[in-house]
Amino acid sequence: MNIQENKEFERLSRRVFLKRLGGAVLVISVAGLAWRMIDQGVFSTGKGPAYEAWNSSKDNLESGPLALVNDAILASNPHNTQPWLFKVTDSFIEIYADESRNLGAFDPMRREMFIGLGCAIENMMLSANAHGYNPKLIYKPSITEPDCIARIDLTPGAKKDSPLYQEIPHRHTHRGKYDTDRQISKSILADIKNLLQMRKK
Ligand SMILES: Cc1cc2nc3c(=O)[nH]c(=O)nc-3n(C[C@H](O)[C@H](O)[C@H](O)COP(=O)(O)O)c2cc1C
Repeated sequence: MNIQENKEFERLSRRVFLKRLGGAVLVISVAGLAWRMIDQGVFSTGKGPAYEAWNSSKDNLESGPLALVNDAILASNPHNTQPWLFKVTDSFIEIYADESRNLGAFDPMRREMFIGLGCAIENMMLSANAHGYNPKLIYKPSITEPDCIARIDLTPGAKKDSPLYQEIPHRHTHRGKYDTDRQISKSILADIKNLLQMRKK
């Protein structure tokens, strides 16, 4: 083999080597992703870290402000974007809009995003009462931090459980057909009407 042929051989070898390396990296990445999916409980419905928030035996979260966040993240939210961030202290929790998770052109006015954030706040208020806090909700608490959409101040209070609080881990979107035979009670219709009137004021 002359020098020229030898260089060609080296170049080919390197190319083949890199190609094989690329293949190996891809195989390792796919294997890693699959392992992570299994580890995170993606394939085992109802089990694994992805489902921890629903686990009622969350011993370390049974009390304290983190329990409220745990209930907040079970809220309904647009397209499962979960557009929220929380700053948690012993005496207050701040809720931030996570703009990186907005739906872009699907939600240009951020209407859906704010409805989802409202759902999370409502869960937190129910949870705060159930965990023995006297929660005080302040919308837009800081002019300098526009993404901070609300703060809930927490002081000790009487434990106030409620049927709605109990439903938090059971509520979910099933995307079934509307049951058109089911009557909506007059009191619920009146509540909806009142909400609309409150909004007009
Ligand atoms: C403002 C808003 C808009 C939503 N729009 C739809 C929708 O158009 N179609 C749908 O099937 N679900 C919709 N959902 C339900 C969400 O997809 C659902 O809450 C989210 O995927 C989380 O699942 P979960 O409700 O089972 O916890 C909406 C929820 C909110 C809060």
